[in-house]
Amino acid sequence: MKIELKNVLNIFNQDQIEEYSSEIETAYKELLSKSGKGNDFLGWIDLPDQISAELIEDIQLHAKKISLNSEIFVVIGIGGSYLGARAIIDALSHHFAQLQDDRKSPLILYAGQNISEDYLCDLIEILDKKDYSLVVISKSGTTTEPAIAFRLLKEHLEKKYGREAAVKRIFAITDSNRGALNELANIEGYKTYDIPDDVGGRYSVLTPVGLLPIAVAGFDIKAFINGAKSMKEELLSESTSFESNPATQYAIIRNILYQKGYTNEIMVNYEPRLLYFTEWWKQLYGESEGKENKGIFPAGVGFTTDLHSMGQYIQEGIRNLFETVVSVENSNKELKIPKNDADLDKLNYISGKRISTVNHMAEIGTTLAHVDGGVPNIQISIPEISEFVLGQLVFFFEFACALSGYLLKVNPFDQPGVEAYKSNMFALLGKKGFEKETETIRKRI
Ligand code: PA5
Repeated sequence: MKIELKNVLNIFNQDQIEEYSSEIETAYKELLSKSGKGNDFLGWIDLPDQISAELIEDIQLHAKKISLNSEIFVVIGIGGSYLGARAIIDALSHHFAQLQDDRKSPLILYAGQNISEDYLCDLIEILDKKDYSLVVISKSGTTTEPAIAFRLLKEHLEKKYGREAAVKRIFAITDSNRGALNELANIEGYKTYDIPDDVGGRYSVLTPVGLLPIAVAGFDIKAFINGAKSMKEELLSESTSFESNPATQYAIIRNILYQKGYTNEIMVNYEPRLLYFTEWWKQLYGESEGKENKGIFPAGVGFTTDLHSMGQYIQEGIRNLFETVVSVENSNKELKIPKNDADLDKLNYISGKRISTVNHMAEIGTTLAHVDGGVPNIQISIPEISEFVLGQLVFFFEFACALSGYLLKVNPFDQPGVEAYKSNMFALLGKKGFEKETETIRKRI
């Protein structure tokens, strides 16, 4: 993995980088000695080399069993209990997996990431006709969206297969000691996996939260973990200096740009299957840094698609944007543009070229245009999209996020602001214990 900076070095100079060098060293020390803000949520750093072989085997074994009796596997969860798995599964899957008749693994569908009645009705309509299993994922075990989806699908499964058979098709991933889901899973006798106490939702993709769905989807979780492990080794054994450490570079650049008024970061990809990787990254950075009235606003675009929608704004709108491009060097498949004798579409000048070559030229051309338009550009190059490389990217972005949050002087591991909407919703729905809020809130609507 390589990080390149375009139109960044002329915005700030070496002195500004130097100013951050002692802070970055402190941030490293605090993370590794677990002495900084949010230090009870640093278990994710140890995951790549501490996941046991038994746990991996157990997950693979159950993934195999699920694929023998299920055409569909429903992953119920929201936020960090959903986005990591979806990011990796979408990145590795066939673009049209839903229409692939010769699929060797269950199709992964998602629930509990919204409260849409139409979505859930459509899902149940599909599940009526298919064999399926499900996993319900919630660290707290009390999140409303997945709890609603699980109540519906549990009832549906029990009606479809009978209570006893349904139990074998339900998996639960939650806190090992607390929460309603933990209690329910124990009473019902579901197969459970634990989310370690010291790993927060958005940092949990290397726990069963991500690993079980990824394995069920047919992907190599060992390679994924090994990728994370290799990135951990790279980031922790290299020096912390700006020149040699990509996490240091990314964390410092973001913070300098932010100080200079570049308050919006756009993650850019040129591969549609990275859409949910961007969604995962948005949550990781948005929830980790957006607090105390501070933080870069993370957004995402998929090019070249969005060049025909958001491209205009990026080129000429308010100059508070910078881009982080995840640049994929090699496609996994090959397709060339055919020659056509009539050449009515005037495309013969690129006939014989690979589609990926055209995509790369679009990428280079766009970067130059945006840089000329005053949009600083950070390029993160990866050789290909594979389990190993995605594991590297996941650990890279997690570690750089923790560093960046420490440079911003926030706790990158909490999310106090997420609660505000919940108490309003509970008050409006008349939940016990929210009577006072109900009175106040009804006056406001
Ligand atoms: O990153 C986080 O902590 C959040 O996004 C949570 O993952 C999300 O709110 C879901 O919480 P839970 O897993 O407790 O249902």
